[in-house]
Amino acid sequence: MPDEIAEIVFTEEQIRARVQDLGRQISDDYKDRRLVLVSILRGSVFFATDLARHIDLPLSMDFLSISSYGEDSEGVVRITKDLEENIAGKDVLVLEDIVDTGFTLKYLLRTLGGRNPKSLEVCTLLDRRARRIIDIDLKYVGFEIPDKFVVGYGLDYRQRYRNLPFIGVVQP
Ligand code: IMP
Ligand code: MG
Repeated sequence: MPDEIAEIVFTEEQIRARVQDLGRQISDDYKDRRLVLVSILRGSVFFATDLARHIDLPLSMDFLSISSYGEDSEGVVRITKDLEENIAGKDVLVLEDIVDTGFTLKYLLRTLGGRNPKSLEVCTLLDRRARRIIDIDLKYVGFEIPDKFVVGYGLDYRQRYRNLPFIGVVQP
């Protein structure tokens, strides 16, 4: 384990089990429908590919990249790589790695909502509710986490540690 990782918050096994649960739940909720999974680059990619394998529905996957400026992403959020797919009239599920203040998702949901999807919901792997500023309706939450900066399973600290199979607290 890297020196900078102070503690493990969720093990590989815990993540796998929870992602499987989420996949089952989503498969039930969207039964007989077709889904568009929108993965937010880059953090949610590991989660998205694992989750997709546990969803038993016809689906497509698309990717969106954003950048945020200013403290805590409160400033401007901008799309740097847009979706390939037209989401009008489709059932869209946005996949996030972590929801913190909520500013990123607020912007994204407003932007994607303007494209008239049939439905637009959020599935986040992690929810750090203690720091929420913008109230956002999260349909699916993998785990709630305390107010500590975490890495692994897609989440980074200065672009490092995304490849850790577990989620841990980083203490540089
Ligand atoms: P929000 O706009 O404040 O909700 O920030 C959400 C974004 O901040 C996530 O998509 C992550 O990219 C990043 N982020 C927030 N907390 C963490 C963390 O603990 N580890 C890694 N990235 C984080
Ligand atoms: Mg992110």
